[in-house]
Amino acid sequence: MPGLLLGDVFPNFEADTTIGQIKFHDFLGSSWGILFSHPRDFTPVCTTELACAAKVSDEFKKRGVKMIALSIDSVEDHHNWSKDVMAFNSEAEGALPFPIIADHKRVLSVQLGMLDPDEIDKDGLPLTARCVFVIGPDKKLKLSILYPATTGRNFDELLRVIDSLQLTAQKKVATPVDWKPGQKVMVIPSLSDSEAAALFPNGVTTKELPSGKKYLRYTQP
Ligand code: BEZ
Repeated sequence: MPGLLLGDVFPNFEADTTIGQIKFHDFLGSSWGILFSHPRDFTPVCTTELACAAKVSDEFKKRGVKMIALSIDSVEDHHNWSKDVMAFNSEAEGALPFPIIADHKRVLSVQLGMLDPDEIDKDGLPLTARCVFVIGPDKKLKLSILYPATTGRNFDELLRVIDSLQLTAQKKVATPVDWKPGQKVMVIPSLSDSEAAALFPNGVTTKELPSGKKYLRYTQP
C-alpha cells in the first residue's frame, strides 16, 4: 500500500482549500497538525464527524494543533457543505473553524494512501477513507489511523491520543490502555532502574508479576 510510515517527513504539498492555496509546511508553521480525510461532502456520517471536529476545535487549539480536513470534493462544495455542518452542530456558531482541502483530482489521496477501494462514487472512482494523520512540529508523521467510510471516528479519542503523543515527545514514558491526562504512565522499557529513578522525582513503582520480571513500572509524570 502506498503511503507514509511513522517518522517520515510529511509531504510539503500544495493544495486548494477553503482558505485558498496552501503549502502544507507553511500552513503548519511550528505547530502540531492533524489532517483528517472524509469520503464525501453532503453525506451523513461525514457531517456528524466534521460537526464534532468543529465543536472540539478549541481543544485542538489549546494543544497547539492546527486542524485541516480533506476530501475529493471541490472548494465550492466544501463551502456549501460547511453551512450544513455548522447547522448540525447546535453548540457552534459562525464559519467552520478549520479549512478543508479540495483534492478533486485525487492527487493527495493517492500519494498519501487515503483511497477506500470499497467505496466507489457514481463514476466508479474510489472515495477517500477516514484517514487521520498527526504531524509533529518537526513535520514528521507521529500517528496514522485509517477507518473505512462506514465507521465514524471519535474526536475525544483523537484528543486523548494527541495528549499522549505530546507527553511522550517530552518525557521517556508511554501511556497505558485508556490513559487520560493526569493518570500514571509507564516508564519505557529501554530505561534502566537507575536512569528511571534519576528522571522521575515522583518515584517509580514496579508491579510484581508471575514472571518475576520487573518491566511494569509506573510513574506520575
Ligand atoms: C457517510 O458519511 O455517511 C458515508 C459516506 C460514504 C460511504 C458511507 C457513508
